[in-house]
Amino acid sequence: GRVAALVPAAGSGTRLGRGPKAFVEVAGLSLLERSVRALAPHVDEVIVALPAGMELPAGLPARAVEGGDTRQASVLKLLRATDADYVLIHDAARPFLSEEVIHALREAIPETGAATVALPVADTLVRQSAAGDWGEPTAREGLWAVQTPQGFRRELLLAAHQQAERDGYAATDDAGLVARLGVRVRLVPGDARLFKVTTPGDLLLAEALAAAEDR
Ligand code: C5P
Repeated sequence: GRVAALVPAAGSGTRLGRGPKAFVEVAGLSLLERSVRALAPHVDEVIVALPAGMELPAGLPARAVEGGDTRQASVLKLLRATDADYVLIHDAARPFLSEEVIHALREAIPETGAATVALPVADTLVRQSAAGDWGEPTAREGLWAVQTPQGFRRELLLAAHQQAERDGYAATDDAGLVARLGVRVRLVPGDARLFKVTTPGDLLLAEALAAAEDR
């Protein structure tokens, strides 16, 4: 079946403080360009959700739609812009996406129609107390930090978004919306390099990684 990569890139980048985050450059290439270039060779089309008034960088193998007020709204607009059989949703803010991750995800999708890349949690986890100190420890066994890309049968993800819209349900990712329908979401071991560039510290890490990988 045909596969579309859908890239939400319409965030404002408030925590980073450098303007619309997808356009922030790491070693001369924006987060958006890095993400699209990683996806394009492996899919039939790439569609990007952009902040209102912004345009795609010249030469990118993608087309654009205007994003929404939330990530969830941006993804719904992207879903409505394609009739592909499968969709891969990938945050522009995770620019270090390898071919291996894309292949592993694509292999996992057909079984239930839904799969996400995720990382087993390595740190000790604790819920803060009412005073903001050490509260209740939480066993990390069996806990995963959810990343992107996430892959779905397009009609399944569309149904999940429509149900969430009817219920006024908000989620920070797409797999959560599908799981809510009772559909099994496969977990595919991801990659620490798929961290989301969120804070100025993340940008330093990204610069270091880009220097090593672009060499
Ligand atoms: O804000 P956060 O880093 O969680 O955003 C994750 C991804 O969703 C980013 O790539 C961002 O550009 C995108 N996004 C979007 N539309 C919004 C908010 C975020 O496409 N309204």
